[in-house]
Amino acid sequence: MQYFKKKTAEKILEAITSVTPDVSFTADEIAGMLEYPPDQTMGDVAFPCFRLSKILRSAPPKIAADLAEKTSDFEFGTASAVGGYLNFKMSSDYLAGHVLGEIEEKGEKYGSSDIGKGKSVVLDYSSPNICKPFHIGHLGTTVIGHSLKLLHEFVGYDCTGINYLGDWGTQFGKQIVAFRKWGDRETIEKGGIDELVKIYVKFHEEAEKDPSLNNQARAEFHKLEEGDEENLELWRWFVSVSLAEYNRTYKQLGIEFDSYKGESFYTDKMPAQVQKLRESGLMKIDDGASIVDLSEYNMPPCLILKKDGSTLYPTRDIAAAVYRKQTYDFEKCIYVTSSAQSLHFAQWFKVVELMGYDWFDKLVHVPYGTVSVDGAKLATRTGNVVLLKDLFRQSIEKVEEIMREKNPDLDNKEDVAEAVGVGAIVFNYLFNSRIKDINFTLDQALSFEGSTGPYAQYTYARTCSILEKAKDAGIEAVGGVCTHESEEALLKTLSRFPEKIEAAINEYEPSNITRYIIDVCTAFNRFYRDCPIVTAENDDMKKFRVRLTKAAGGVLKTALHLICMRTPEKI
Ligand code: ARG
Repeated sequence: MQYFKKKTAEKILEAITSVTPDVSFTADEIAGMLEYPPDQTMGDVAFPCFRLSKILRSAPPKIAADLAEKTSDFEFGTASAVGGYLNFKMSSDYLAGHVLGEIEEKGEKYGSSDIGKGKSVVLDYSSPNICKPFHIGHLGTTVIGHSLKLLHEFVGYDCTGINYLGDWGTQFGKQIVAFRKWGDRETIEKGGIDELVKIYVKFHEEAEKDPSLNNQARAEFHKLEEGDEENLELWRWFVSVSLAEYNRTYKQLGIEFDSYKGESFYTDKMPAQVQKLRESGLMKIDDGASIVDLSEYNMPPCLILKKDGSTLYPTRDIAAAVYRKQTYDFEKCIYVTSSAQSLHFAQWFKVVELMGYDWFDKLVHVPYGTVSVDGAKLATRTGNVVLLKDLFRQSIEKVEEIMREKNPDLDNKEDVAEAVGVGAIVFNYLFNSRIKDINFTLDQALSFEGSTGPYAQYTYARTCSILEKAKDAGIEAVGGVCTHESEEALLKTLSRFPEKIEAAINEYEPSNITRYIIDVCTAFNRFYRDCPIVTAENDDMKKFRVRLTKAAGGVLKTALHLICMRTPEKI
């Protein structure tokens, strides 16, 4: 589509210039003015001629009619005037030749570009707090973050995915006290985070009755900060027990991180930044605490040090950003968190700017809305939070049930059930624009119809099975022309992939891809319904339709991978 837009813009410019030689537009500017007509039967792109009426001193419908005449020899399609619009439609030669040719030539790279070449992007996502349950609230940061990483890599950026673990703070003093009082190594080794959470909850209950526990906790954290070997050993163990559980979930999602440097890593990197803040005169003492006043920017003050001199969440973020800039020299540093943290990011981004770091504008916060699950059915062991592992398990079990009924002889049942079960949740989540609050139901996510993950994966598997049949029948994927409208519609949909990638990156919005996947599935399934493939009436048609199937399957596979979905060939 981008190529078509470019060629259309050049043609329009040529036509305008022939009417008024001294126009000052460039082809790029015209390309930027092109729109998609609401009704695709009218055309694939439209030029709104009112943009020219001042310059040409004429009414838009008249301009459209004149330009239509001057562009009637357009080699990639046809032009027609509809009211004040000049509409262009891609020819089937263009679709079968250029679009399909490009998809085949680029293969797995179709849709990619090299706009990010030589530039580095850091992505901070998932970042759970150690010893805390990994719950549905983490789904957003984890899959939006990873998808943004894959998308940036796809267009050539050198990406570093950082899991900025919440692994430091007074809560670890509490955890240490709780463990010594009520914990047991074996139980925790076996029960994992759930057991760590249990004793942590108990700590709070007990501290209500006996507040001196809080002092003990503070003392233990202080010892930890001072490098007490015994406390450090315990802390390291808490981290590893927690990570073992997170990693199981990451594995199901196919996610790996390049770095796990969490908050603790920045302990010795904060003093320099605090010093800089102090010297610059930005830091003020307010009721004993050190703050940066942001009232001029309509924000509450950013807290840097507590009364007792201890550092805070923003302090660590500032030190981490400076470290990352030095280490990765990023073009963008992206933070994916719930929108509840939007103020926190706005505040410390401002402080970074006031500190004089000229890269402050390379920091990007990508917020997302809240998720709730409509399922009293979802078993959880920690009160009313829905744990991701439970959600995934239930989804996988449901898929297994459906598969037992629909396809009991399938190979690799377990793998496929996991790919479909976990994929259903990811797809359902990434279908919505990220900022929206969503409520989802497992039944809806798992439906094999409608805009769901299983429907998309199933459509991909269908392309695989057709290609297998074609191979058995010795049908090659070569040559041919469009003979059916559904073939053209499919090719047009496939031609949009590169611009969807661009939109997903520019808007930090993977839902562009998720929705596009449904467009491809719909176009492919319509084509499949309308056009016999391996049983088409002649060899040319068979070959061409196999080509189309291969192209659609290829685009689906790439697109699904970009939103953290797996693509089993049989379901
Ligand atoms: N650990 C934090 C939480 O669970 C999220 C960290 C986000 N990243 C950051 N650099 N602040 O809320």
